[in-house]
Parts: sequence; structure tokens; C-alpha cells
Amino acid sequence: MKRKKFLAGNWKMHKLRGDAGDFFKEFKPALNSALNNTGDSREPLNCIDVAMAVPATLFDPALLAMQSIGVKILAQNCHWEKQGAYTGEISPGMLLDAGLQGSLVGHSERRQYFGESDDSVGRKWDALASAGLLPIICVGESRTQRDACETMGAVRAQIETALLRVSPEGRSKEFIIAYEPVWAIGTGLTATPAEAQEVHAFIRTVLAEHLAPKRAGETRIIYGGSMNAANAKELLMNPDIDGGLIGGASLKAEEFLKIITAGV
Ligand code: PGA
Repeated sequence: MKRKKFLAGNWKMHKLRGDAGDFFKEFKPALNSALNNTGDSREPLNCIDVAMAVPATLFDPALLAMQSIGVKILAQNCHWEKQGAYTGEISPGMLLDAGLQGSLVGHSERRQYFGESDDSVGRKWDALASAGLLPIICVGESRTQRDACETMGAVRAQIETALLRVSPEGRSKEFIIAYEPVWAIGTGLTATPAEAQEVHAFIRTVLAEHLAPKRAGETRIIYGGSMNAANAKELLMNPDIDGGLIGGASLKAEEFLKIITAGV
């Protein structure tokens, strides 16, 4: 099945508004001409999906700069409740209200530093899907798990435990899985294309065990972990690698653009 590639930047806790403004000034026209887009016509990019997960302080400037050429602006996290006494949290409905199109869920940094569990990942996945937003669910094994040949078991457990919280309706909605081996994030180490493809194909079989065949076949599974301009093409050529989630290399417009064009 042909799946449109999905390339997303993850800015994590980087950039003030001034830095972001400089980035957009360079990135927007360059992306526009690289993809031969039609300017400010609100036409979605047609050969590839481009998204950027930015800090909440940059939602507005990012939307203002990038939405008109079809770049999706995403959050990096959310709460699962619609509203309530949850100081510091943002609900899916609020993200929608702010004009966003989706959110990352369960990034390994949230699991590591903020106690995110597979259970809360599932709740957020369901809440985003029912709000009409795109959930991007991050999974991946640690170095210890890979060395102990536990990669597939770890990834299966993350997906299956989260899925327990996702209603049949939520499961029928579009979502993306980001396979991000923890040992490859921000380290300069990358899974080889063969290693990544093997896990992506496995994830698709896990999805097929739990979802309608059409949804499992259509779901994009993207790779994250030190993807850069030098390794993107080799990774993106594989049949089950449907895009990338790019951290460090998405902070520089020129580098991010090279990765995007490698996916076209
Ligand atoms: P990295 O981060 O590209 O800097 O390794 C990827 C991610 O954390 O999503």
C-alpha cells in the first residue's frame, strides 16, 4: 500500500520567538520552492506531509508562518481530560481551539523525565482521536532492551498496553506510530535502515492484530533517532518507513529541508 511520507520536526524545549521567526523566514520560501507549492493558497502539500511539533509559546507564530503552505503544527504533549483542575496541562480541545492538528504522545523524554506510562499514553491517544486531532504515538526500546534482544517485546507491550485505553472509535481514526529507539535519540547513533525496517514491519503486524486491516495498512510508521540529512534517504527508502520524527536536525532550516526533500 502506498502511504504518503510524513516528516515532522520536534523542537522539544528549543527556540524563543525571535529564533523561530528567523527559522520561518528562511524555511517557508525554501520549502515552498523545493516542493513546488502554490504559495499562500492554503493548498496542502501534495507529495509529502510536513509537520512541526513546537513549544506552546510558538503555536501562534508557527501557525501564522507555516499553515498557509500546508505545514501541520503539532503539540508535543497534552492531557487526556477535556478540562479541569490540572494546573499546567493543555487539553486536546484547547489544542484544536488554538488551530493545531495533532500532538506527539509518549515521547521517550516524557516517559523518562515525567513519568509518562503506557496507560497515560493510551488515554491521550484516545482523547486526541476523539477530539479530531492526529495522535503521534512514540515507542521504542532502551539500549539494555536491544542488547537483551527484547526490542520486539518492548515495542509490542508499549502499543498493546496503550491500545487498552483506545476505544473502537478511537482505533478507527487516523494515527501515526513513531518508532524511536531510545538509544538513538539525540545521541548521533541511528538504527541501521535494516534494523529500523525490521521493527517497523513488526509494528505493522502488531497493529494488524488489533485493528481493521485497512487501518493497519494505511497507518504511517515513522522513524526517529538522530535522523539527519546524511542518513534520511537510506532510511526513507524502506517499505515500512513512512517518514521521520526529527529532533536536533529540525532546528536548522537548511538541514530540515534536506531531510524533507529526501522523502519526496
Ligand atoms: P533526535 O530526536 O533527532 O535529536 O535524535 C528525535 C526525537 O526525539 O524525536
